[in-house]
Amino acid sequence: MKTLVIIVHPDMQHSRVNRLWMDSLMKEDIDIIDLYALYPESKINVATEQERLLNYDKIIFQFPFYWYSSPPLLKQYLDEVFLYNYAYGPEGTKLKGKSFGIGVTVGSNEADYSEEGSNHFTLETLLSPFEATFNYIGANYLGYYAQYGTAYNLTDEELIEGNKVYITFVK
Ligand SMILES: Cc1cc2nc3c(=O)[nH]c(=O)nc-3n(C[C@H](O)[C@H](O)[C@H](O)COP(=O)(O)O)c2cc1C
Repeated sequence: MKTLVIIVHPDMQHSRVNRLWMDSLMKEDIDIIDLYALYPESKINVATEQERLLNYDKIIFQFPFYWYSSPPLLKQYLDEVFLYNYAYGPEGTKLKGKSFGIGVTVGSNEADYSEEGSNHFTLETLLSPFEATFNYIGANYLGYYAQYGTAYNLTDEELIEGNKVYITFVK
């Protein structure tokens, strides 16, 4: 199964977690694209990206959690790449049967992402628009892997342990 990780971080230079994940994916020879590096002016080449996806069975979107969602370039990517008669519609079967997953880094701690916690919603619920999108295009949803607590006191040991689990999730 061929895997692509689409990384979407607007400030990779100052990233701790997504940068480590990206470096580890490259060391493991897993195909990646860094969407903000590829399109610094946010002008996505739609034909190139549609063609690219055809080569993969498994696609992971990796991003930092920003305002309970993804950074904006991923929303733009979905709007512009997952088009009628490509991803949906009578001829839109190109992504059908592929598997999609999410790798997300989250500032708050896991306990904050529960109905009783400070954010009032689980991460599963907050990520459900992605799940609905994959469902709509006839793809399989692999779920998500989250590294919580990145804005608090995440230790290097926890980070390295989480990185290992993430690589296994991607593979
Ligand atoms: C604009 C912005 C919005 C953010 N929104 C959230 C949020 O809604 N929930 C949360 O837990 N963390 C939030 N954070 C924290 C990021 O998720 C955190 O900085 C990121 O996961 C760290 O990953 P990195 O080391 O790869 O940059 C936000 C950070 C920024 C800059």
